Amino acid sequence: MIKDQIRNLKNEAVGEILEAKSLQELEKIRVIFLGRSGKINALTKEIPKLPADERGGIGKLINETKKTIEEVLSQTQNKLTKTDRKTEWIDVTAPGIKPPEGHLHLITEAISEISSIFASLGFRRARYPEVEWDWYAFEGLNMAENHPARDEWETFFIDGLESDKYGKGILTPHTSSGQLREMEKYAPPIRMLNIAKCYRRESGMSHAPMFYQFEGLVVDKNINISHLKGTIDYFTKQYFGPDRKSRIRPFHFQFTEPSFEVDVTCLICGGKARLPNGKVCRTCKEGWMELGGSGMVHPNVLKNGGIDPEKYSGFAFGWGVERVLMMKYGINDIRLLFEGDLRFLKQF
Ligand code: FA5
Repeated sequence: MIKDQIRNLKNEAVGEILEAKSLQELEKIRVIFLGRSGKINALTKEIPKLPADERGGIGKLINETKKTIEEVLSQTQNKLTKTDRKTEWIDVTAPGIKPPEGHLHLITEAISEISSIFASLGFRRARYPEVEWDWYAFEGLNMAENHPARDEWETFFIDGLESDKYGKGILTPHTSSGQLREMEKYAPPIRMLNIAKCYRRESGMSHAPMFYQFEGLVVDKNINISHLKGTIDYFTKQYFGPDRKSRIRPFHFQFTEPSFEVDVTCLICGGKARLPNGKVCRTCKEGWMELGGSGMVHPNVLKNGGIDPEKYSGFAFGWGVERVLMMKYGINDIRLLFEGDLRFLKQF
């Protein structure tokens, strides 16, 4: 008697499942047969009322029936899911999912920020060659052949570029090579900002074999050191923030006279050289960090550029783009700027 009931239940369930037209309908059928108060559970509750020797066999039969119903249910569910998708309704007017947005590389961002700070002072943005002639990189800048000042800068010479007039070809070690090119092209007043790649024979945490420099050149009547210092101060406050200070320190370059190194107060200790716990600041050790070189353009350089040093004077500076970036954010390894590691770049 109960065996007939089980068989009928199975046929009834499978029949209804195969007839189902939608997933919702299928779910209702599942609840009717397999739900907590469903027909299968109702039959299971009958088992204790049966004679003891029949209970095991009936229990097994009910389990098999349940399994069959579950299998047919799941097959039908798969079938209906596929057809459901085909007829899925799409709202073409709904807003799309925004793809993740990236940003320009830190160096590119710094170049445009530096350019706009100097543009606000009237500096014209220039870009002079990475592959230069000896004349523009050395000779014309007061560094004759075999002059020791060339030592750290004479690096990558290029075969096949020799010129009778300009000498050997070289990957430029500094943007100062753009000074003479600018003077040849434009008569004073000159206000130039040359940003370009430079190459050196060195690499490590603070020095890269390829890096960017930005070079300022101003030539006009009555230009003096206070114009240079005012420009440095303006850049320092605009780029690093109003709390940072700058100073110029006597130095020597062949192409400027007098020459200076430019320093900016350290981001970490604020120029105090000591941390709040009294220990020496390991980032700068003395409160100041070096930004780069500067000075008043040497009369010989003005002459080489076709400008009369009796009438005109000028100042120039050349600083590293990566260096200012590192000093702004407290980055301690220049290689991070060239590795393209997103874990680093995403922090900015
Ligand atoms: C010069 O290159 C001079 N031409 C600067 C100058 C311009 C002086 C105009 C006077 C007038 P120096 O070698 O110190 O100087 O380099 C200037 C700056 O470039 C450094 O302070 C540093 O910020 C950056 N720099 C130099 N070498 C590297 C390097 N290998 N990697 C990254 N940045 C560098």
